[in-house]
Amino acid sequence: MGNFTCFFILHFLLILVIIQHVQPSTSLPLSTNSRWIVDEKGRRVKLACVNWASHLEPMVAEGLSKRPMDAVAEQIVSMGFNCVRFTWPLFLITNDSLGSLTVRRSFQRLGLLEPIAGIQANNPSVIDATLIEAFQAVVSSLGRNNVMVILDNHLSRPGWCCGYSDGDGFFGDPNFNPDLWITGLTRMATLFNGVTNVVAMSLRNELRGPKQNINDWYRYMQKGAEAVHLANPNILIILSGLSFDRDLSFIRTRRLTLTFGQKLVFELHWYGFTDGNAWVTNNPNKMCGKTTDYTMKTSGFLVDAGYPLLVSEFGIDIRGTNVNDNRYLNCFLGMVAELDLDWAVWTLVGSYYLREGTAGFNEYYGILDWNWIDIRNSSFLDRISALQSPFRGPGLSETKLHKVIFHPSTGLCILRTPSANLLSLGPCSDSEPWNYSPRKTLELKGANLCLQSDGSGTTAMLGTVCSRSNSKWETVSESLMHLSSKLGNGTTVILGSGYRALAFALSSSFSPFPSKSPDGSRPISSSLSCSSFRYQAGY
Ligand SMILES: *[C@@H]1O[C@H](CO)[C@@H](O)[C@H](O)[C@H]1NC(C)=O
Ligand SMILES: *[C@@H]1O[C@H](CO)[C@@H](O)[C@H](O)[C@H]1NC(C)=O
Ligand SMILES: *[C@@H]1O[C@H](CO)[C@@H](O)[C@H](O)[C@H]1NC(C)=O
Repeated sequence: MGNFTCFFILHFLLILVIIQHVQPSTSLPLSTNSRWIVDEKGRRVKLACVNWASHLEPMVAEGLSKRPMDAVAEQIVSMGFNCVRFTWPLFLITNDSLGSLTVRRSFQRLGLLEPIAGIQANNPSVIDATLIEAFQAVVSSLGRNNVMVILDNHLSRPGWCCGYSDGDGFFGDPNFNPDLWITGLTRMATLFNGVTNVVAMSLRNELRGPKQNINDWYRYMQKGAEAVHLANPNILIILSGLSFDRDLSFIRTRRLTLTFGQKLVFELHWYGFTDGNAWVTNNPNKMCGKTTDYTMKTSGFLVDAGYPLLVSEFGIDIRGTNVNDNRYLNCFLGMVAELDLDWAVWTLVGSYYLREGTAGFNEYYGILDWNWIDIRNSSFLDRISALQSPFRGPGLSETKLHKVIFHPSTGLCILRTPSANLLSLGPCSDSEPWNYSPRKTLELKGANLCLQSDGSGTTAMLGTVCSRSNSKWETVSESLMHLSSKLGNGTTVILGSGYRALAFALSSSFSPFPSKSPDGSRPISSSLSCSSFRYQAGY
């Protein structure tokens, strides 16, 4: 591959998108059309969800002591999400002595007095409601704000989830009686039959543990799916895989047999800590290649097999201080962008009433801050915002289909600056169409310009002479996220990392962008210079 005179530790991702300037309103219920979730008119609906927990010991939606539920729902919308994965414990609905507890009593029995005062102040209408009524009230509040809801059976016994052998992980575990589970699913599906914003139920979170096996998975998942569909034929049915929702590989050889169609969705979880600390101890490129490969084999393949795939949990320590998380996220966002998956980020929750014995637990994976008012870190929202819109799918005009160059570290795309043929980062919706040609040039369609490294290999820019080697870009490295180009003298330069289709993406610990220019865009040309090059461990 020649000498590497310099590494640009950038990754960009070239993906197909149709820029939709107007998001049409969704007509429910939802169904599936091959790998897409679609509305009643057959148009793609991309689920861009936040997880909102209501499955811990109090069995009350978190945060109600801090903020009125309508205000939370409005903020969910203002942050660009269209959906909530709302978690519930099985025993809430199968054990009448729990379901009929009032919110006040539920906190009292746990010795938690502060949330009582907080809920009295912020959500007085539910303080003496039963736990089930309070759960319904939150769903209604989301409905008033046009937020779709996935009801997620997170576990059986209320509390923090999930341990490998916590007795709550697989059918037949002490706390996981399959018949009781079917009863609970049926009751929940019935309770929300006719509530239009409840669009889906995920039947069980993160199956796992010593008892997990494929035969029981089919046996009970089919039963559960049929029971839910019978009780509520409108909703999508979401099934999780084995090994903490990391493995659905068995679907490849053995399909489910269901009596109904066009309602089945699979789900997947993927965190940085899924692989322990491996993003820190290994070459991040190798890790990205390896874990993406694994994920494609165990669940990503489903989209090609004609099933929608929802990444129902992913997330990072939003303070940006966890290197393992940061490296994982660049890779993760690349894959989610390329496959244009539906997703739910963990988590909305800024703090829990009680988690693992700690009252007022501060959730650093939470989009909201401890007080449930401030946004913990807006740069995280910026990074996922481009992924909140569908890139392609039924109902989106094929003629507008084109490529953009997505930059996972910022969530922005490469744009041409209006004044000169320079490059900058800006909103993906402002991107002109790019084309990756058979002769391996990256061209701005219609503009007669292509991306090239300058003769010295220190700068990337747009040029009109696209026939030379410095305009040819090829994918290299294990992650397939680096683009390389050859200089006139045969030296190879690398533009990026982090892309899977055809592009580049940026590593998190590297922030090469100078401060904002007057028009708000950040010049990228200088950032592509070798002088700002930093060698990263493992690259
Ligand atoms: C219902 O929950 C209560 C309180 O946790 C418990 O004491 C009781 O045994 C449960 N009942 C059933 C039938 O599981
Ligand atoms: C927000 O995230 C960015 C990127 O990870 C990080 O550099 C910054 O320090 C974070 N800010 C806060 C307030 O956590
Ligand atoms: C090729 O050109 C680049 C940029 O001028 C320089 O850094 C590199 O050393 C040259 N390589 C060879 C083999 O001459």
